[in-house]
Amino acid sequence: MAGYRYYSRRVKSLASTPSFQVIAVCLGLFLGIQWVLRHNHDGDQALPRAARPIMSVEDDRIDWSKLYYVQYVTSPEYLCNALMVWSEIEEIGSRAQRVMMYPSSWDPNEVDEINLRLTPVARLLQAAVSDYFVKLQPIEVLHQNGTAEKTWADSYTKLLAFNLTEFDRVLAIDSDSVVLQNLDELFLLPEAPLAMPFVYWGEPQGWQLSSQMMLITPSADAFSKIEAAIREAKKDERKNHVAYLGSRSQKWDPDTMKSEAKFLHFSDYPIPKPWMRAPKDLLNKHMPKCSQSEWFGATDCRDRTIWLKLYYDFAMRRKAVCGPGFELQSQELPPDSIYRHGRWFHPDEVG
Ligand SMILES: *[C@@H]1O[C@H](CO)[C@@H](O)[C@H](O)[C@H]1NC(C)=O
Ligand SMILES: *[C@@H]1O[C@H](CO)[C@@H](O)[C@H](O)[C@H]1NC(C)=O
Repeated sequence: MAGYRYYSRRVKSLASTPSFQVIAVCLGLFLGIQWVLRHNHDGDQALPRAARPIMSVEDDRIDWSKLYYVQYVTSPEYLCNALMVWSEIEEIGSRAQRVMMYPSSWDPNEVDEINLRLTPVARLLQAAVSDYFVKLQPIEVLHQNGTAEKTWADSYTKLLAFNLTEFDRVLAIDSDSVVLQNLDELFLLPEAPLAMPFVYWGEPQGWQLSSQMMLITPSADAFSKIEAAIREAKKDERKNHVAYLGSRSQKWDPDTMKSEAKFLHFSDYPIPKPWMRAPKDLLNKHMPKCSQSEWFGATDCRDRTIWLKLYYDFAMRRKAVCGPGFELQSQELPPDSIYRHGRWFHPDEVG
């Protein structure tokens, strides 16, 4: 009896020490949290899985077989550009699939009658399938007549991506671009018929959209509306197609070359697109200027170095990917180039 009283007194005095109380409170909290966690977990399993938003490309609920990168080509030149982009995507790797729209008048098996080899266009079409795992989708290209119509035809072809209704979502990318990093996470953007990036040099209000990259949810309904809108616009010969699709002009900004850039679009007019050989005096005049460094007033030419390397890399990749028949070509500036707002525009760009 005396022993029991002794221990009970010991326990009471122990329980009244601050450290014991702290330990008891912690243990209580720990068990409580455990209970809540286990309880919540059970509840969680009862919820439908789709209720949780998809936040990662690793999420196994994503059906990558219905998500496609799409490029469209309407000329041999752009076919080569598109192949270069496919080669970049293949090197980087992608979870999404690949599809390329091309004019149905092109024959992927066309043979040159003289040397009995595949024509350059047929060779590249076949290479897209065999080397870069691209699905080919023949399309009817609109008749091209005159400058305004040509731009419309171009826009229209781009919007044919809305007609790829067997896919859940497609990311249409311009072929005169470079893919620098994996773009798969763009497919996780919240549901929308169309998502496009803003141009970064626009006014703070009323930013323009850029059509160089469009995340599209294909739909027969949306496509028929677009077709109707384009037919209307063609009838009216309206000139402001650019506003409809967003700005088509792009200006080089070396900031885009920071390491986080994943995608780069060539547009340095009057420097020709990189598959044209730029005349030397034009290059000298328009390539990025060296700036005065803050340190000792030394010259800082990093912008220019990065810029020149981009064009150099482009030429090298073009040779490696497209081979003979797609060599760089010389191009003179059209004599009626237009100078506005501190930069040159191709006459086609200014309505
Ligand atoms: C394109 O222009 C040519 C000649 O200018 C004309 O004969 C033809 O009908 C035009 N095609 C279309 C689809 O407008
Ligand atoms: C749209 O897709 C359907 C089904 O694949 C096809 O029959 C039709 O020709 C396409 N329309 C155009 C304008 O390409």
